[in-house]
Amino acid sequence: MSFPSQVKIVEVGARDGLQNEKKIIPADIKIQFINLLSETGLKVIEATSFVSPKWVPQLADHDEVFQKINKVNNVSYPVLIPNVNGLQNAIKAGVKEIAVFTTPSEQFSQHNTNCSVAESVERISEIMVIAKEHDIPVRGYLSCVLGCPYEGKISALAVANLAEKLLLMGCYEISLGDTIGVGNPVAVKELIVEVIKKIPLEKVAVHFHDTYGLALVNIYAALECGVNVVDSSVSGLGGCPYAPGATGNVATEDVVYMLNGMGIQTDIDIVKLMLAGNFMMNVLQKSSQSKVNLALQMTNNCRED
Ligand code: HMG
Ligand code: MG
Repeated sequence: MSFPSQVKIVEVGARDGLQNEKKIIPADIKIQFINLLSETGLKVIEATSFVSPKWVPQLADHDEVFQKINKVNNVSYPVLIPNVNGLQNAIKAGVKEIAVFTTPSEQFSQHNTNCSVAESVERISEIMVIAKEHDIPVRGYLSCVLGCPYEGKISALAVANLAEKLLLMGCYEISLGDTIGVGNPVAVKELIVEVIKKIPLEKVAVHFHDTYGLALVNIYAALECGVNVVDSSVSGLGGCPYAPGATGNVATEDVVYMLNGMGIQTDIDIVKLMLAGNFMMNVLQKSSQSKVNLALQMTNNCRED
């Protein structure tokens, strides 16, 4: 068993975290939220998505949000892109890094992007051409890798083949998304074993939603396999509008707390993270889903300001 010595956290709270919120949050609140996240030591903060506002009204303000956030040195602010139209808008807004997404599930592909898996791969290949011309690094997401709300079980081989395809197309990293949070540590290990037959381990990231409360233990299983990139969302915000039953991502505070305790370096200030999370939860008038947040507030370890 050898855990990585360092883990990169990809904070998805401003994108995955907000995309499913029904009440539209003003752009200036989103900007303040991302600016708070930028002060925490996070190195990757997914800022928004340039998807169709008809499909995800909450993120229709992507131009304004992306343009007005403080861009801190050495922090990247990728955005989610579904098609060439989105990429062209993102380039105009000054985006320097993007993430694309597809899935091995035909039905999820139809529900989420109104096209087949093959068509979504074709869209990605068109995106890759333009991204390359503009020197834009591209991350790849695969959704529903451990189960689909429409198709149920998903074959690990299908996930591995699609991961290989995205890597060959030019993605620098593949994030394996348990979109509806149905995975367990054994399934996670089996999946990673299959995926690393096709792509190098250092290209693998994991993205767990915490629907059944297993996200942290699933991350632990991925760490045991040597994965060192973890997606998470401050306060456990999140959900996909086209994945019924899915709840938020694993809370970044909880991931950082676990990694710190295990002696794995993240360089993230957990108190500042909690403050950023509390800021957004106050706006949403919801309670944080982070157990660590709750525990540290109870023990008065949180700074007051
Ligand atoms: P469509 O309706 O088939 O597309 O949607 P279309 O080409 O027919 O366009 C329809 C309208 O949208 C047109 O406007 C287009 O111009 C416009 P109209 O002519 O009717 O006025 N349009 C756009 N506008 C702005 N930006 C764009 C854009 N594209 C089209 N980029 C489409 C196809 C892919 C666009 C749509 O299905 C879509 O945007 N889907 C995104 C859904 C989404 O964001 N889901 C959540 C993200 S994925 C996720 O959360 C999973 C992840 O977290 C990992 C995990 O957890 O597993 C990543
Ligand atoms: Mg997600």
